[in-house]
Amino acid sequence: MKIKNICCIGAGYVGGPTMAVIAQKCPEINVTVVDINEKRIAAWNDKDVENIPIYEPGLSKVVDEARGRNLFFSADVDKAIDQAEMIFISVNTPTKAYGMGKGMAADLKFIELCARQIARVSTSDKIVIEKSTLPVRTAEALKNILENTGNGVNYQILSNPEFLAEGTAVEDLMDPDRVLIGGDIDTEKGKEAVEALVNVYAHWVPKERILTTNVWSSELSKLTANAFLAQRVSSINAMSELCEKTGADVNEVAKAVGMDSRIGSKFLKSSVGFGGSCFQKDILNLVYIAKSFGLNEVADYWEQVIIMNDHQKRRFAANIVRTLFNTVAGKKIGFLGWAFKKDTNDTRESAAIYVADYLLNEQAEIVVYDPKVKEEQINADLDYLNTRSEKENRQRIKAVNDPYQVSKEAHAVAILTEWDEFKELDRKRIYDEMLKPAFLFDGRNILHQSSQKAIGFKTYIIGENCDLL
Ligand code: UDX
Ligand code: ADP
Repeated sequence: MKIKNICCIGAGYVGGPTMAVIAQKCPEINVTVVDINEKRIAAWNDKDVENIPIYEPGLSKVVDEARGRNLFFSADVDKAIDQAEMIFISVNTPTKAYGMGKGMAADLKFIELCARQIARVSTSDKIVIEKSTLPVRTAEALKNILENTGNGVNYQILSNPEFLAEGTAVEDLMDPDRVLIGGDIDTEKGKEAVEALVNVYAHWVPKERILTTNVWSSELSKLTANAFLAQRVSSINAMSELCEKTGADVNEVAKAVGMDSRIGSKFLKSSVGFGGSCFQKDILNLVYIAKSFGLNEVADYWEQVIIMNDHQKRRFAANIVRTLFNTVAGKKIGFLGWAFKKDTNDTRESAAIYVADYLLNEQAEIVVYDPKVKEEQINADLDYLNTRSEKENRQRIKAVNDPYQVSKEAHAVAILTEWDEFKELDRKRIYDEMLKPAFLFDGRNILHQSSQKAIGFKTYIIGENCDLL
């Protein structure tokens, strides 16, 4: 089966970059990315390619090359669905905020709406691909909706989980460790659909890196991969607290442990806690699924990864309060960074949000500098927590465009995101502008204790033994 038209529903962090790379690598396939959010589509179509709504290194160049040639962004969802032989579903699947499974299960209402829309408008056979992270057996629900409400059209459902990490999305898409495709490989039609998707990726991914499995294995592999990665971060973060007590240095421990080839060196960087749209959501999902099968020990095992992560965020914030003589009321605390990691403007589940919320409860005044995050996003993130009124959030937290404004007359500066530019800042200037004693809290382990001491800072670096007072 030769694919000529691809439609992707959802122009977000997954759909946008993935489709841009597919379009660039497959010039003979028309790729249309659709979204109900017209503002987002308009931004993807902005004449100045630097204004596309998602910041990812290298992405604007890829979009610039393919946009208008065989890559299109549109709000006409129905038309794109009907024209395509292959439809990717890349809509958001947040954790449910209501009812059964609240706070744990994935909310599949956007997926279901997509399925119903596909069923309503399709007049020819379709390969429908789950790209969003989904609980195991979602494909079955999709199939059910499509086959029972469709116009007699044939559907093949594939699972093709995304393993790209934000900040390195383009790199990850261009040179993936593996591409995973799950399908109904026991039937001829199913095999054909899998083959069609394999052929899309084979334009640039070596065949031996394209794995095909049954749908359920593919769905569960995605959750498992994210759970394992998050578990490594929680494991090193657990050790960071022990390092602080014992005089060990978490960077040295991570290096020594990571050189064991059975363990490996990646994802052993201790931090103020992992964030992002996937780790927490996927683990909560795993916990929910395990519980629903009565597998309580399995559920408890994975839940501990989240408990550790919450503890890490809380103890970082509590340490700031304790160090600042047990009160931050009315004190200016500068934040360097708000995004959940460097090289992205995404703030979902960012540790900075929770640290800020804790400090605002203690009546602190926070000033944030993040090279890619705007004040309205910071306000929206805090409002979403519903801890205090929107008015109070706006009174107590401000964003600035210059990193040195963060330190001006601040009692403390905290590093929440590991942006490279923070390593280049003039520390002496920061020190001079702060109130004394000048406290520096490094939640990303990017500073060296000795050089800060020489300037005069009282420094806390996560995972290092330090005597602040
Ligand atoms: C993750 C997975 O890596 C990716 O494969 C999947 O498709 C989506 O979820 P992402 O959330 O974009 O990607 O970023 P990732 O690099 O995994 O980082 C997640 C969080 O963990 C960030 O907050 C990061 O700062 C933190 N982290 C990561 C650490 O604290 N230490 C580390 O060593 C690595
Ligand atoms: P992700 O990180 O999974 O890509 P995002 O929130 O960045 O998540 O993007 C998901 C996109 O899907 C949003 O832009 C949202 O407007 C879009 N979306 C959600 N439901 C639908 C739908 N039924 N039809 C079209 N687009 C949708």
